[in-house]
Amino acid sequence: MTLLEARAMGASLARMDGAAKIMGTAPYAFEHRLQRPTYLHPVQSTIARGRVRKIDTRAAESLEGIVGVITHETAPRLASDKDKELWVLQSGEVHFRGQFVAAVIAETPESARHAAALVRVEYEAAQHDASLRAGRKDLYAPKTVNAGYPTDTDAGDAEAAFEAAEVKVDATYTTPMEHNNPMEPHTTVALWEPPKLTLYDSTQSVHSVRNTVAKTLGLDAEQVRVISPYVGGGFGSKGEPHAHNILAALAAMRVPGRPVKLALTRQQMFCLAGYRTPTIQRFRLGAARDGRLTSIIHDVVELTSRFKEFAEQTAVPTRLMYASANRRTRHRLAALDVPKPSWMRAPGETPGMFAGEVAMDELAVACGLDPIELRVRNEPERDPESDKPWGNRHLVECLREGARRFGWSQRDPRPRQRAEGIWLVGMGVASSTYPRYILPGSRATIRLGEDGSYLVRVGAADLGTGTWTTLTQVAADALGCPMDAVRLEIGDTDLPNATVAGGSSGISSWGCAIVAAARELRRLHGPKPSPGAEASADTPKDADDKTFAQHSFGAQFAEVRVNIETGEVRLSRMLGVFSAGRIINPRLARSQLIGGMTMGLSMALHEDSVLDERFGHVINHDFAGYHIAANADVANLNAVWLDEVDERSNPMGSRGIGEIGIVGAAAAVANAVYHATGKRIRDLPITLDKLLT
Ligand code: MOS
Repeated sequence: MTLLEARAMGASLARMDGAAKIMGTAPYAFEHRLQRPTYLHPVQSTIARGRVRKIDTRAAESLEGIVGVITHETAPRLASDKDKELWVLQSGEVHFRGQFVAAVIAETPESARHAAALVRVEYEAAQHDASLRAGRKDLYAPKTVNAGYPTDTDAGDAEAAFEAAEVKVDATYTTPMEHNNPMEPHTTVALWEPPKLTLYDSTQSVHSVRNTVAKTLGLDAEQVRVISPYVGGGFGSKGEPHAHNILAALAAMRVPGRPVKLALTRQQMFCLAGYRTPTIQRFRLGAARDGRLTSIIHDVVELTSRFKEFAEQTAVPTRLMYASANRRTRHRLAALDVPKPSWMRAPGETPGMFAGEVAMDELAVACGLDPIELRVRNEPERDPESDKPWGNRHLVECLREGARRFGWSQRDPRPRQRAEGIWLVGMGVASSTYPRYILPGSRATIRLGEDGSYLVRVGAADLGTGTWTTLTQVAADALGCPMDAVRLEIGDTDLPNATVAGGSSGISSWGCAIVAAARELRRLHGPKPSPGAEASADTPKDADDKTFAQHSFGAQFAEVRVNIETGEVRLSRMLGVFSAGRIINPRLARSQLIGGMTMGLSMALHEDSVLDERFGHVINHDFAGYHIAANADVANLNAVWLDEVDERSNPMGSRGIGEIGIVGAAAAVANAVYHATGKRIRDLPITLDKLLT
């Protein structure tokens, strides 16, 4: 693979779409100007399991301004029930509380909402079960876990090695259900102009929305166009289509020629847009007295919805973090009558590395070792799982650089040694990791225009992360031209196919296609192409080099202050040091990494979706009850990175940074809380009640 020469890449540019966003001229899904729109408001089930016996829509329909009400009895029929989440209004069956059971189309959003409240639904409720416990008898092993990883792995005899170990940690860690909560709600505006369906959608992948919606509705993919130039965050919850996409499309078919606008409310998002499964993780570490690991055992229990399986890969990072001859990982699921869990920023790594990195901190205490030194001693020379050489593993450098910058040497190794007035002060560290993914299947087209500028087209997504800017940087370097000679087009299925902005794979996957298209342009038209010259290329089949184990690494450092009297935890400083290959745009990268760290400290201290098992319902389903770290919670945060170019990763030398910032952050905070107080909190979030008891 030839590495691109970096001219535009590496420049700290402000985002190109910034001005348009500030001035309100960058249209989000709900804001496209369309003629004679109608508004859709769903009716949601109030039981967690059972069936709809009867729906009375007369009161709703008699209101002025109501265009129509659709129920499972009246909605257009869908073609494929392969995905039960998308089998919307096709039967009276209820799988979870909050499921769509009807929807009102009206001339205004207010009348739609009012009428939805007047729809009377009678249910035949069945006994539901929404209780996640590690001791359940019906836990099962899924075939694989998310991203196709094996459910279980074994090396050596981990149990026996653990029993025989000189030093042991055996602890159970829990993380709660958490919700992605992007700023922009899940929104679809659907327009049915037979035989064409247009969706203005807020999504991480226009092409996967198109393909899935087409299949579900029984349309050809060519009949469906999805437009999504700007997205207000997703964090995984917009990585695949959800029921609202189908609901909007079904409603649109009732009013051909008129757009149907649907934006989920914040409360509706808590049961209709995915979430992070709660986890119960038993972690066992066995080590020699010098800290060298002899056994690593990670047993995970988590939930899935009964109607459709999602198995988070929580123990997967444990397979590669540290060296040990004996290792074992397990994932077990409870199938419950709850909405379907899904992707949330670094699914797997985020909860898994919380447990693993707190367990390592506990082992450091048990061995009387500095937690950084413990990690250094257990650095594996090759990937323990695949036995492949590392593409670019610089965890130790991240830990050492972070220690230097953070003032780690000033830390008293003993807990509860430092107080400032009524505040106990402590410092914690944790490792971070995330895989380097390149997805196959993106395509880029480049055309030289009459004005000498290159039109670069790929159906990529910008979730607010900066794709508009960074892909332009990549394209400029691929073409050897200045940034302002590139005109990028993304966010539309009329553009060449693009894979999802997920798994931190976007720039790698789309960038490979752009670089290949630029090479193809030169191959076909020489080094100085004339206007009209055009070329296309796919992400090369061999772009994902499997010779090496390719992962990013990082080190998270946190300093917290814990109020002796109230147990309140305040984060005072946090530093992340990352090794993620070339940083294409430092300004935007810093923002991404700090964003991830903020989400991680929010996980450590605040976020907690409280499921009332009696109803199968998240009771704190709004921003009054579900606290996400706000400005006052985010103190002195900094993210830096090793200066590196990863020539094994992709032609840009980059590896992707969307997710690694969150990984390990919660563990660093929890370890700092232990260091401040001497209290080990193993259950997130670390709220003051846990520190007072
Ligand atoms: Mo991310 S959770 O892979 O969209």
